Amino acid sequence: MRRRLLRAPSSLRTRLTAGLVVLLALACLAVGVTTVVALEGFLVGRLDQQLQSAQGKFAASLEQEAHPDGDNVPDTRGQSENTFGACIIGGRIQRAAVVKDRSDAAVPLTEADRTTLNHVPVDGKGHTIELTGIGRYRVVAVLGDESDTLLTGLPMRPVEETVSRMQLIEAAVFGSALLVTAVAGALWVRLSLTPLQRVARTATAVTQLPLAAGEVAMPEPVPQGDPRTEVGQVALALNRMLGHVGDALTRRHASEERLRRFAADASHELRTPVATVRAHAELALRHPGPVPIEVRHALERVQSESQRMSGLVDDLLLLARLDAGRPLARDPVDLTRLAIDTLDDARAVSRDHRWLLDLPLEPVFVTGDEHRLHQVVANLLANARLHTPPGTTVTLSLTDHDGLARLTVSDDGPGIPASILPQIFQRFTRADPGRSRTAGGTGLGLSIVEAVVIAHGGTVDVTSRPGHTTFLLNLPSTAPKPE
Ligand SMILES: Nc1ncnc2c1ncn2[C@@H]1O[C@H](COP(=O)(O)OP(=O)(O)O)[C@@H](O)[C@H]1O
Ligand SMILES: [Mg+2]
Repeated sequence: MRRRLLRAPSSLRTRLTAGLVVLLALACLAVGVTTVVALEGFLVGRLDQQLQSAQGKFAASLEQEAHPDGDNVPDTRGQSENTFGACIIGGRIQRAAVVKDRSDAAVPLTEADRTTLNHVPVDGKGHTIELTGIGRYRVVAVLGDESDTLLTGLPMRPVEETVSRMQLIEAAVFGSALLVTAVAGALWVRLSLTPLQRVARTATAVTQLPLAAGEVAMPEPVPQGDPRTEVGQVALALNRMLGHVGDALTRRHASEERLRRFAADASHELRTPVATVRAHAELALRHPGPVPIEVRHALERVQSESQRMSGLVDDLLLLARLDAGRPLARDPVDLTRLAIDTLDDARAVSRDHRWLLDLPLEPVFVTGDEHRLHQVVANLLANARLHTPPGTTVTLSLTDHDGLARLTVSDDGPGIPASILPQIFQRFTRADPGRSRTAGGTGLGLSIVEAVVIAHGGTVDVTSRPGHTTFLLNLPSTAPKPE
């Protein structure tokens, strides 16, 4: 709780305004205290001067009256109203009076008052005392005739009234000044910081941009402020940074584009020569008549490698097209039918594996490119066949829940090594490149699976441990097409 109270206000705006108000309050306090102290000192000094000029006249007249042989009436002439006078004869206060309506009025004294009066130093200087009957007084004590002490006093009341009036005026003036400063200061700070808010908004917008890939639309630069101010400098720096980042991103996008186009063009250009090589190898193999065994073997190698190469070129071209975001066909595809067909094909290729199919009662439909989806499932089944030993059980299952078709291909083979599992969908990732090559794999199969599934608005996932490998595809399903 204490910590929360002590914590600085959160926004810079509040902090600046609060700081301004606190500083002004401190300044007001200093000015207030100084003026009040100075004023009081000045007024008391003037009282003292008046007392000096009175020179104990009133008290002296009281003294004469107090003496046994005296019959004079106290001289109140020339004394201002409320002047206090007292004489102490032989340590006893004989007479204490104030001037009231040009005559003297006795002042009743308590024991405490007498002690106070007795203790006023006889030095001719002003001292402030408090008497029960008449309040606070400024008194001066001087020696009269026959070593009597004469006390003359003037009331402190006018001084106190002036000072408290001054305090009241100052409080009102300072209070309104603080209020005006708080409101105007808050507005001013807000106005000054508006460009900074714009900078913050733009910076936040940049943090939310998908900078990792593709073409990025940078946010508008912030309005250029005065570059001599801090806010203007920040805006300038941010704009420059936005410019640099935008430049770098555009260049990166262009180079990605170039690379993609190169891959697409290269694979496209390779297709025809590879097909030609393959066709010629086949033609040569069909040559009637005796062919030396080494030549036949060489031709067979040419044929199988050119076949593999055309597969590789096709895969590369497909990936380049998917990368470029080429639209796919959007037809209703019967996934159930597709599952049955691909599994039949796989069974026909390898009788050494156990092929199981687990289908829902109702057919499952998705919208997309049948040929590509066929390729996806075929790739997964081919992997389950090529990367597992004979005798492995491979299960293809399909479900449809709440508009989501889930297709899984699992096997109980040795599994995918943990070292390559995280990047299994990246291009040319293979557990054992040497072995895979002889097995006919290109290392692009799973990249194609991922790219096609994502192009269909779906997701693909894999879990693998020895004896249990599962590829899971999620695709948005649609209602079956009306017959
Ligand atoms: N069912 C599986 N069991 C074990 N390893 C697999 C399985 N599926 C894929 N793999 C591993 O993932 C690698 C990448 O597969 P893929 O992209 O299809 O390339 P390719 O099959 O051409 O080698 C394979 O080389 C293999 O090591
Ligand atoms: Mg493969």
